[in-house]
Amino acid sequence: MQVSARIRSVRANFPQGRNHILVDGSTGETIGWLFVADLPEELRLVEIAMIASRRGEGLGTAVISGLLAEAREAGKPVRLAVDVLNHAALRLYLRLGFRIVAGDEARHQMEKRPD
Ligand SMILES: CC(C)(COP(=O)(O)OP(=O)(O)OC[C@H]1O[C@@H](n2cnc3c(N)ncnc32)[C@H](O)[C@@H]1OP(=O)(O)O)[C@@H](O)C(=O)NCCC(=O)NCCS
Repeated sequence: MQVSARIRSVRANFPQGRNHILVDGSTGETIGWLFVADLPEELRLVEIAMIASRRGEGLGTAVISGLLAEAREAGKPVRLAVDVLNHAALRLYLRLGFRIVAGDEARHQMEKRPD
């Protein structure tokens, strides 16, 4: 699905969400997309995707670490859902301290509570 269609879809579910197009400051190249909803009880990481050629460089880690810091300030957990077959993303979230708290055969629900 195109990012523009995904943005419309997630905005329908999270009208209060923040959409961020991630840009490389030195080249101006669009390198990723982040959609976050600041809900009363949690900061929800709704979508994160880096373009394929820029994955594995630590950018996702930096972006999510920024969100974790923002949530810690607000005293809220960060929550997200990840496909059970998305092993690489799951590994990244576990490394950043997220834990699986619920889910079904398709999606893990994960959270990291403020320290
Ligand atoms: C998941 C994602 C946002 C992480 O961003 P990133 O900038 O590649 O992440 P970092 O470089 O900080 O960390 C690399 C880690 O990301 C994970 N990762 C996920 N997909 C990856 C890919 N295609 N290439 C490299 N790393 C990937 C791995 O766990 C890797 O850690 P490892 O060293 O344990 O293998 C990015 O890889 C991506 O866009 N993946 C496709 C979309 C997706 O799955 N989004 C998450 C939906 S919940």
